[in-house]
Amino acid sequence: MANVCVITGGGSGMGLAAAKFMPKDKIIVLSGRTEKKLENAVNELKALGYEAYAKACDTSDKKSVHALAEYAATLGEVKTVINSAGLSPAMAKPETIVRVNALGTVYMNKEFSAVMKNGGVIVDVASNSAYVLPKFLINKKVYALADTDEELFVKKIIKKSNLAKGDYARSGFAYALSKNFVTWYAAKCAFEYGKKGIRVVSLSPGLIATDMGNLEAKDGGMLIPFSAEERMGKPEELGFALATVADERNGYLAGVDVLVDGGSTNGMKEFKKKK
Ligand SMILES: NC(=O)c1ccc[n+]([C@@H]2O[C@H](COP(=O)([O-])OP(=O)(O)OC[C@H]3O[C@@H](n4cnc5c(N)ncnc54)[C@H](OP(=O)(O)O)[C@@H]3O)[C@@H](O)[C@H]2O)c1
Repeated sequence: MANVCVITGGGSGMGLAAAKFMPKDKIIVLSGRTEKKLENAVNELKALGYEAYAKACDTSDKKSVHALAEYAATLGEVKTVINSAGLSPAMAKPETIVRVNALGTVYMNKEFSAVMKNGGVIVDVASNSAYVLPKFLINKKVYALADTDEELFVKKIIKKSNLAKGDYARSGFAYALSKNFVTWYAAKCAFEYGKKGIRVVSLSPGLIATDMGNLEAKDGGMLIPFSAEERMGKPEELGFALATVADERNGYLAGVDVLVDGGSTNGMKEFKKKK
């Protein structure tokens, strides 16, 4: 049976970069909201010798995610899922950010774990902004609502985001909270799906020179001096990191967040604190 890899946010950035590091015997399904972008990305992969397909999906829509999982399962056994779809603070208001980044992860993990078997892997893309939140904003009881009462979950996260002053800062809080949630939820799923032999990991990039990273570079640029090499990450570096975390030979990597941020979180906390 064919071996299928689904990548959301696969039309651009690190999602598309990850696809290019996948073994050629996998069928690649690239997903996102913009069909034209997906078609171009699929053509790039085909030119490299991949069997690849585009399937539009909005990850904040449960039915759309269900349809994506069903479609992928018709192509073969879904072995690999990289959930790279996301919106950053400059791209959307807090509610949309929470629905795409946080609830999108819930829908992706639930719908895909239902069609995946022993040996499958789900990699959820979070962010190193998950690490910069003041502790009082992080409430695991609120996070648990994502499984039981989605609307209350969204309301409570937005209420916390509104503690920030100004539109951009509010979206920034919503982004950091949504990504902190992703690290927690991926770990939770690892323990649930582990019984079925499905591995779940989250990966947190630092500031990376993709469309999103470049858009956020004005504010995110403050991270650069804190990184070990004092630079942004390259999309292909993150693509490789995602592909290696997803590789089945990395079978014992589960239930944790993998921080791929050039050291900027550690730099900020300790080694370059004064900058
Ligand atoms: N670049 C950075 O500095 C950085 C840092 C930390 C974390 N991240 C995370 O890394 C991931 C990948 O981002 P990137 O840097 O590669 O940026 P990117 O090129 O903008 O990729 C994000 C992708 O997500 C898709 N997307 C957005 N909303 C979606 C939705 N509702 N449903 C399905 N797809 C959706 C976008 O395509 P459509 O618009 O066509 O849907 C786009 O292709 C994101 O989760 C982001 O939060 C990025």
